[in-house]
Amino acid sequence: MDANDAKSAFPQSLILAGAGKMGSALLHGWLSLGLPAARVGVIEPHPSEPLRERAKTEGFTLTPPAKAPDVLVLAIKPQMLEEAAPALQAYVDENTLIISILAGKTIRNIAERFPRAGAIIRAMPNLPAAIGHGMTGLAASAGLTPHQHALATTLLGAVGAVEWLDDESLIDAVTAISGSGPAYVFYLAECLSRAGAALGLPPAVAERLARATVEGGGALLAHEADTSPAQLRENVTSRGGTTAAALEILMAENGLAPLIERTAAAAQKRAAELSG
Ligand SMILES: NC(=O)c1ccc[n+]([C@@H]2O[C@H](COP(=O)([O-])OP(=O)(O)OC[C@H]3O[C@@H](n4cnc5c(N)ncnc54)[C@H](OP(=O)(O)O)[C@@H]3O)[C@@H](O)[C@H]2O)c1
Repeated sequence: MDANDAKSAFPQSLILAGAGKMGSALLHGWLSLGLPAARVGVIEPHPSEPLRERAKTEGFTLTPPAKAPDVLVLAIKPQMLEEAAPALQAYVDENTLIISILAGKTIRNIAERFPRAGAIIRAMPNLPAAIGHGMTGLAASAGLTPHQHALATTLLGAVGAVEWLDDESLIDAVTAISGSGPAYVFYLAECLSRAGAALGLPPAVAERLARATVEGGGALLAHEADTSPAQLRENVTSRGGTTAAALEILMAENGLAPLIERTAAAAQKRAAELSG
């Protein structure tokens, strides 16, 4: 999307409820992309000094007047929804698109709290959104207009990649892959680091090697976006070489693939339990 397309999909008015870790990352992404700060209101029960300072220097409004915006982004903790909803009702009318990033809260849960909302989107971002490298899965209620679809793509696209899903129940699978996935990658770095120490490297050196390898592998995946991960792997595996010897273990019948499948299935099951 070029800058003009992005601007045309900016809301005229946007309210962010909850400027914690994820809310602040989104706010930063929107303003960096060029969303005029004058269009943004932020609701936070106890705004920190840095947030007050940012509001002053960047120009968004803290505790905006009760008027329904084009888009209300819910970024509070899921367990706060019940308590927060009555006060937030004043920011919703039939033209308002609600984008909820609350883990485990279904479109129906949100619709019950905000019956007047024009349309609701359930979004599942992940931690790297905090540095603009997120991956967000999105599912929408009925009644979403093409313009609202474009707005949500721009707003979540401000912190990384977005993937639309036709079926909300697939959000649990998104949680299992990209939502929880960064922790799997961190664990891979941990295991690699431990293996390095077991082979005799000083532990700190092993950790630096592991970290840089995960980082470099990820960067290469991003750089070679047109090459499949399988092809990239084959490209670095010469017959009879060291990588081939390693992959024989990793790719054995009872190797990493079935383990990752079980890992993701456990996360998906838990996500389904949590969203009731
Ligand atoms: N972090 C992630 O990687 C991630 C990934 C996917 C989805 N999410 C979802 O993102 C949401 C936010 O997570 P987070 O990690 O950013 O949590 P967080 O840092 O605790 O942020 C939540 C913020 O909401 C504020 N808040 C509480 N009650 C409010 C109210 N009534 N009105 C407006 N704001 C209110 C909190 O203020 P106080 O601190 O003063 O209570 C806090 O600043 C969660 O629903 C989570 O499921 C997070």
